[in-house]
Amino acid sequence: MHSEIIILAAGRGVRMGGGVKALRPLGGLPLLAHVLGCARAAGVRRIHLVHGEGEDAALRRHCDLRGVNLVAQPQPLGTGHALMQALPAVKAAATVCVMPADAPLVRPATIRHLCGAAADGIAILTVHNPDPGGYGRILRDAAGKITAIREARDADAGERAITEVNTGFIAAPAALLAELLPRISRDNAQGEFYLTDLIAAAANAGQGIADCTCDDPEEAAGANTVAELAALERKYQRRTAGDLMRAGVTIMDPARMDVRGELSAGDGCTIDVNVVTEGAVQLGSHVYLGPGVVLRESTVGDGSRILAHSVVDGAAIGSGVTIGPFARIRPGTTISDSATIGNFVEVKNSAVGPGAKASHLSYLGDSEVGEGANIGAGVVTCNYDGAGKHRTAIGAGAFIGSGAMLVAPVTVGAGATIGAGATVTKDAPPGKLTLTEKKQRTMDGWRRPAREGR
Ligand code: UD1
Ligand code: CA
Repeated sequence: MHSEIIILAAGRGVRMGGGVKALRPLGGLPLLAHVLGCARAAGVRRIHLVHGEGEDAALRRHCDLRGVNLVAQPQPLGTGHALMQALPAVKAAATVCVMPADAPLVRPATIRHLCGAAADGIAILTVHNPDPGGYGRILRDAAGKITAIREARDADAGERAITEVNTGFIAAPAALLAELLPRISRDNAQGEFYLTDLIAAAANAGQGIADCTCDDPEEAAGANTVAELAALERKYQRRTAGDLMRAGVTIMDPARMDVRGELSAGDGCTIDVNVVTEGAVQLGSHVYLGPGVVLRESTVGDGSRILAHSVVDGAAIGSGVTIGPFARIRPGTTISDSATIGNFVEVKNSAVGPGAKASHLSYLGDSEVGEGANIGAGVVTCNYDGAGKHRTAIGAGAFIGSGAMLVAPVTVGAGATIGAGATVTKDAPPGKLTLTEKKQRTMDGWRRPAREGR
C-alpha cells in the first residue's frame, strides 16, 4: 500500500498565547519533532507538512525536515482548509493519513493500523474519554454506524455528553478526499472549514466509515492549552521512564525524573529522584546519578557516580569517576578515568587526568591537570586577567596545597608541590616544593577592639 502522511501544523495556537504551537517543547523536543518521528517510524512513503505562512524557516531550524514536502496554508481557515492545501501534492492512488501536529504521543503502530483500515474508505481514530472537553464528538445512528463528528463548540447538550471522541487522526484514499473536500463549508461556530465535516459528507454519500479505537487514550491527547501541554509532558516523562526501566535502568521514582532530549543508558544504571537530562546524554553501564543531578549534552563512562545536586554540562566523564555532591562541570571539560571531583568544585574547559583529585571548594578553569595530581581545598586557577583567558598546566602527580592561587598563564611541573596559600605567578619546577612565603607574626599585647557597653 502506498501511504502518505499530511501533518497539520498551521493552526495559530491561540489557546496557548500564540507563537508556533508545533515548536512548543515536549521532553525538550518540539511537538512537531515527535509527530515527525512517529510518521517516519510508521514507514510511509511521503510526508507533507502544512505550516503557517512564513513559519517554515523556524520549523526548519528546530526540526529535521529532510525529505518532507512543506506546504504553506496562507490563512488558518480550519483543518479542512489545511488539508486542501496539501492534497494536490499527494499521489492520486495513495492512502492519506492526516496527523495533527499537537498530538505527540501517538505510536507508529497506530498510524499503520489506521492506514490499513482506510484502504477503501475513510477511517478515523476514536477514543473513549470520560472527560471529553473540547474534543469532537462521534455521532452514531441507531445501528451504531458513524454519521458525523460534531465539534464541541457546535454540539448541543446531548451531544456534548457523548464520551467517544475524535482524535484528529483520519485516513482515507486521496481520491475520495479530493471528491469530498469541496463539499465542506464554513457554516459553523468558528467559521472554519472543519476536516471533521468530511465524515458527514462521506456518510451522506453512502460511504461506510471505519473506526479504529485507540486502546491507550494517551496516544490521542492533544496540547491545546498550556495546562494540557504540561499534562502531556508528565505522560511523556512517564513513558520515557517506563522505556528506560524496561531496558533495565533502575529509577528510584519514575514520576520524578525528566528527560529533555535523548538519554541512553547502559546496563545496571541507577537514577535517583529529580534527575534532569537535557539534549543528548549517554551513560555507560552501572552509572549512578544522585538526587537532583542535572546532566546536559554529556557522556558518562562505566561505573561513574555523579552525586547529589551536581550539574554536568557539555562534558565527557570517564569511567570510575566520582563527581559531587554539589559539583559543577562546565562545557569543554574532560574528566578522565578514576578522577574525583568533590563538593563545591567548578571545572570549566579543562582536562582532568586519570586518577586526579580535586576534592573540595576549587575552581579549575582553562586548565590541564595531569594524572594523579592532587588539588587541595580552595585552590583557584586564576584564568582571567580582566581581558583574556589563560591556561594553567598542572603536571602529573603534582600536589597543590590548599588555598593556592595559580595565576595563569602558569605551569606547575610534574611531581611539584605547592605550599598552602601560595600565589604562584611564575612556573613552578617539577619535583620541587615551591612556596610563596608570607610571614606569620604574633602581636604581643594586641587587644581586639570592643564596642562600648559590651
Ligand atoms: C481537532 C478536531 C477535533 C478533535 C481534535 C483532536 C477539527 C475541526 N477538530 O480539534 O474534532 O477532537 O482535533 O485533538 O478538526 N491546523 C491547521 N490549519 C488550520 C487549523 C488547524 O493546520 O487552519 C492544525 C493545527 O495546527 C493542529 C491541527 O490542525 O495541529 C488541529 O487543529 P486544532 O485547532 O488543534 O483542532 P482542535 O480544536 O484540537
Ligand atoms: Ca488540537
